[in-house]
Amino acid sequence: MKTEAWVLRHGKDAGEVGPDGISGFDIETIDLPEPGPGEVLVEPMYAAWEGNLGHAIERRPIDICEERGEDRVVLGNSGAVRVLRAGDRDGRFPEGAMCLVVPAGEVDRYGYTEKVHGYDRPGSSGILARRMVLPAELLYRVDPSLGLTAQQVTAAGRYFIAWNNWNVALACWRSQMVGEDPADHLVFGWGGGVSQGGLLLARDLGFRTAMLTGSADRARLVADMGITPLDRRDYPGMTPAAGSALPPEARKMRVDSEARFVEDVRAISPRGEGAAIVLDHIGGPVYVATLKILARQGVLSTVGWKAGMRLTHLRAVEAIGRRIHVNTHVTHLRDVAPAVEYAAKTGWVPPIDERDVYAWEDGRRLAAAYNSGGTYSYFPMLKIND
Ligand SMILES: NC(=O)c1ccc[n+]([C@@H]2O[C@H](COP(=O)([O-])OP(=O)(O)OC[C@H]3O[C@@H](n4cnc5c(N)ncnc54)[C@H](OP(=O)(O)O)[C@@H]3O)[C@@H](O)[C@H]2O)c1
Repeated sequence: MKTEAWVLRHGKDAGEVGPDGISGFDIETIDLPEPGPGEVLVEPMYAAWEGNLGHAIERRPIDICEERGEDRVVLGNSGAVRVLRAGDRDGRFPEGAMCLVVPAGEVDRYGYTEKVHGYDRPGSSGILARRMVLPAELLYRVDPSLGLTAQQVTAAGRYFIAWNNWNVALACWRSQMVGEDPADHLVFGWGGGVSQGGLLLARDLGFRTAMLTGSADRARLVADMGITPLDRRDYPGMTPAAGSALPPEARKMRVDSEARFVEDVRAISPRGEGAAIVLDHIGGPVYVATLKILARQGVLSTVGWKAGMRLTHLRAVEAIGRRIHVNTHVTHLRDVAPAVEYAAKTGWVPPIDERDVYAWEDGRRLAAAYNSGGTYSYFPMLKIND
């Protein structure tokens, strides 16, 4: 069987960089096998455009084709698909059923992901394709009675990652701050849809919440959700992009901005202590500020390293402050059902901005917009089949 897919070619075969700054990422025709036992033929509906797509297409920090030892890779590890046919007539996946793709590609003996399907799992193909054969264990069938649309399921993928990360962070915080009322504590998050998902869970438990955002649209949206927005533009130089070197005058500006930012976060926190929990999926340039705003017995929680993964801290300071550093990756399958049900029951679903829903042919346009910070919301997606 043949189908169309967005294919990322190995850097050595990528060819010229286009005016959009992208190379070796194009629609091609690929061969698909018939689904075998334990596999399901699906029609992807929407693919969430996420950090690892950005990283892979920019080939930074690694060329994912090189890493996997392959010439061509079909990316796409999160989104909504429709079942066409299960390989062994598996009754869990009737034709037409909508499923969430859970990117738990290769898991350890306890069910925690080591390699992501459609990203760093060798030999795996993702959902940036008109049709795809996927392992059945990646598919979570969304109960139609929950009333979630394919776009909502796709956008909420970032929230479902946040569910797992947030719950580990919360358990860690509670392990030391026994009996504390969340209303007396602040949870802070750096920009991004995963942070937003975690902050909403914090808000629902009664924590005060705040988030740094880079645009007036996002700030408004965040404020409407009951999260205090801080504007990234008010702190010039504080959060440079990954790998950018700062000229000396910008360094001074950065120090001043960071000091003001720390004061502002402390001022928002109910007891002036800073944040009880910081959701930092950015790393790199924001790490020092993260540590400066983290309260004693605080939890630094991360599932991402958007702007840099080599970080330094002083162990003595973290130990004396009894601060817990939480690192998670993807989610656990047992967390998917409660997260999806919570979304349907409470409306914990990102608002869809139609301007960020890109047509199939516009994959490169979307990649370029995402990589340059040019999407409107935190939830861009590619429409593959309606
Ligand atoms: N390990 C996993 O399982 C997993 C799962 C999901 C996500 N992730 C990772 O987690 C990270 C966040 O993901 P996401 O989907 O929430 O967000 P995202 O779409 O990757 O990026 C969201 C936002 O981060 C903010 N940002 C970017 N560079 C920044 C910088 N230098 N300083 C401060 N803010 C910056 C921007 O917000 P503003 O423009 O509003 O400032 C940007 O819109 C990504 O690296 C992603 O790959 C990992």
